[in-house]
Amino acid sequence: MSLIRNVRIIEGGTAVAVEWDGQAPSRFHAIWLRDNAPDAETRSAANGQRLITLSDIPAMTRIVEASIDPHSVTLRFEPEGKVVEFAAESLKQHVYDAPRNRASGWLPDAVTPFDRTLDSQTVTAPLTTLESNAKECKAWLAAVRRYGFSCATGGPVDSGALLRVVDLFGYVRETNYGKWFEVRTEVNPTNLAFTGLGLQAHTDNPYRDPVPTLQILYCLENSVVGGDSIVVDGFACALRLRDEAPRAFELLTNYCARFEYQGQDGVHLSARRPMIELAPDGELLGIRFNNRSTAAITDVPYEDMADFYAAYRRFGEIIDDPAMAVGFKLEPGESFIVDNTRVLHARKGYAATTGSRRLQGCYADKDGLLSTLAVLEAQGAAA
Ligand code: FE2
Repeated sequence: MSLIRNVRIIEGGTAVAVEWDGQAPSRFHAIWLRDNAPDAETRSAANGQRLITLSDIPAMTRIVEASIDPHSVTLRFEPEGKVVEFAAESLKQHVYDAPRNRASGWLPDAVTPFDRTLDSQTVTAPLTTLESNAKECKAWLAAVRRYGFSCATGGPVDSGALLRVVDLFGYVRETNYGKWFEVRTEVNPTNLAFTGLGLQAHTDNPYRDPVPTLQILYCLENSVVGGDSIVVDGFACALRLRDEAPRAFELLTNYCARFEYQGQDGVHLSARRPMIELAPDGELLGIRFNNRSTAAITDVPYEDMADFYAAYRRFGEIIDDPAMAVGFKLEPGESFIVDNTRVLHARKGYAATTGSRRLQGCYADKDGLLSTLAVLEAQGAAA
């Protein structure tokens, strides 16, 4: 519980300094406080949405009076003459007056890069447990947030059963491949995924904008020799590239690649995005890496193209390094989910003449998963 010891009006009333009990003070601007006022005229009590626009707040907004009790601060804003009480806890949660020494490629606390040492069993749970136990489901969804990867076991060996995985948290994202798609050997494949070829680790559908942010692959048959699944943390690979070769990291983040798919009648998808995407403040946001659907790259100047290709090659070598890969073989009724903006998946080659391998895949979106997780966390999901 945050307690306020004092509040001072500073900078001619354009800001206040809130002094916390036992912690460094935090400054807040008058315009920020007025915009984030929690009163019923500013925010809907029913849905929490803001009822005003910024133009409803005078640009010259000042704070002319400030008082506290330990659990809240009350401010009067002029020229509106508006008095608003702010809960200490809410202010503390939204402090922005803090030093920022973030390296390019920084990650939120809830995200942890992984390499081959991640034991996939630690992110694996039975599907029926996830469906019936909110606490287990919360932990499994939190693993997707932390590692971009989780596995489910013990599901039915039925076509379409992969939808039960999506039902844990959200909705299927339907594409030209259908609500879900088959991954097995085809005679005239529309995509190399539908052959017995090994596939280099990749993110799916980088030619979409936005990409599907989650993928589920669900096993119905897998009696072939080979055909193991592999996941690789693209964030860990990008950070390794940054540490080994900063210039290479810079090239792959600063220039857009191009991705394209037109392997199906009536479909021509294309997107222009970097292979390693950063937010303006350097947060590592996403990876797009897919040798099959990388188009001609035309957004890199002639002077940088050779270095860009060297960086692309090195990034691929890191992705291919067995030290980065977590491997496992799916049995019928088992599935895995990946954050497709981060974790690459691969398949070892297999001979289609012996045994059979049949997976079904579908896409979904991470915002729905994180929403379900946030609700479970707010509820303190118990067993
Ligand atoms: Fe794939």
